[in-house]
Amino acid sequence: MTTVTASEAAYVVAALLFILSLAGLSQHRTSRSGVVWGIAGMVVALAATVGLASKSITATGLVLIVVATAIGAGIGLWRARVVEMTGMPELIAIMHSLVGLAAAFVGWNGYLDVDAELTGSLLGIHHAEVFIGVFIGAVTFTGSVVAYLKLSARIDSRPLTLPGKHVLNIGALVAFVALTVAFVARPNMGLLIAVTVIALALGAHLVASIGGGDMPVVVSMLNSYSGWAAAASGFLLANNLLIVTGALVGSSGAYLSYIMCKAMNRSFISVIAGGFGTPAAAADDGEHGEHREISAEETAELLRDASSVIITPGYGMAVAQAQYPVAELARKLRERGVEVRFGIHPVAGRLPGHMNVLLAEANVPYDIVLEMDEINDDFAATSVVLVIGANDTVNPAATDNPSSPIAGMPVLHVWEAANVVVFKRSMAAGYAGVQNPLFFRENSQMLFGDAKQRVEDILRSLDALDTPLREMAGTSG
Ligand code: TAP
Repeated sequence: MTTVTASEAAYVVAALLFILSLAGLSQHRTSRSGVVWGIAGMVVALAATVGLASKSITATGLVLIVVATAIGAGIGLWRARVVEMTGMPELIAIMHSLVGLAAAFVGWNGYLDVDAELTGSLLGIHHAEVFIGVFIGAVTFTGSVVAYLKLSARIDSRPLTLPGKHVLNIGALVAFVALTVAFVARPNMGLLIAVTVIALALGAHLVASIGGGDMPVVVSMLNSYSGWAAAASGFLLANNLLIVTGALVGSSGAYLSYIMCKAMNRSFISVIAGGFGTPAAAADDGEHGEHREISAEETAELLRDASSVIITPGYGMAVAQAQYPVAELARKLRERGVEVRFGIHPVAGRLPGHMNVLLAEANVPYDIVLEMDEINDDFAATSVVLVIGANDTVNPAATDNPSSPIAGMPVLHVWEAANVVVFKRSMAAGYAGVQNPLFFRENSQMLFGDAKQRVEDILRSLDALDTPLREMAGTSG
């Protein structure tokens, strides 16, 4: 078997491993094995690519590839080890930007270094691939950089509303099509520079136009774009595995975006077109009335007397790393015969499945962790809801206020319970920047402070409430 056929065979193995990886990642029970399949696929793919390259490049070139791979892998390992769970979305966004940048560079290289054997229509196809690759890569690059800046709160997460923003987006697309035709007819650097600049501006504008609450869809959409950018590079480099892998990432990212749009009651087309058709949000008048506060001891008493409790965690639980005491609280209450369940909103936190991962890490049984649709009808018959660092995902304005920026987004109906205790540090708004009328409802009480510390306080108070009972039992025994 030659090196080329061995490498092509290894590509098929790698592609199968990537498909197994995606299948594993689709459920949290199998997600660890999904990651292992993905790592194995990438090791096979890299080894096969270096094997293929070794036929056509010098020893120095080979050494440079190995050194570059080692540096990249070192940086990747370091970032993955030090990143906080709350910093994952921005890390993913910046990774996508690198895929976009690489695709744009591959495109430019395809223009500067044309294979002399390409003539006629094949040369035309090559130049179309160059142009499309540079366009998708550059859109992905700046779109991901803006997403990174928004997710890491380095810039405001509110949507940018330039006058005539949809005309600008459509104009950029029309210009891209016209320039592609011109470039295929007469390839020249001026046109390639023009499309690069247009694509860089379009990527930044598309993502800047999307509001905070819709950022989850943007992250999965950029994931999809980065896949298509990689597939475009695969065509240019005549690398079948890159085409297959890019298409897998592109289509799975597009499907994830579609699922998330459905979960959030958003139009897929509207989100990918930079908020197309979204009405301008009305300003919040700030008139919500008074809120009431509750202490950890009072919350413990409320829980002691409860028959059913639902815990709805959000981003604040991740920030506080409160999942361990929260899991302990759930265990203690269940031991006392209280029915305890968790209600998970599809975009709670900052990553799809963020809360599920945290709760699984703290060994909360899967069967008491329910999706929003499974639990939303049960709030009305619940004694106490503990809202742990969630805000936008429990905001009733999404259902009652049509002019709210989050109007129409399905939310957890926590306010229907007899008592709601909201754990947060202040009256500040959530990620979407809108105030939450839940905090001012008659059945809601605020428990201020870091969520982890407050849940630990409740655990201590529950123990203290139990102590006299235990002592009485000891005396009578
Ligand atoms: P958010 O609306 O982000 O609110 C989190 C709340 O946690 C804040 O109001 C904050 O209030 C509180 N908090 C922060 N640190 C805390 C701590 N140490 N202890 C106690 N509370 C703390 O949360 P959510 O309900 O999970 O909603 C998620 C939002 O993020 C949605 O708008 C969603 O669209 C967006 N988003 C989601 C994703 C994905 S895929 N899940 C990706 C990007 C964006 P204080 O500051 O007053 O404490």
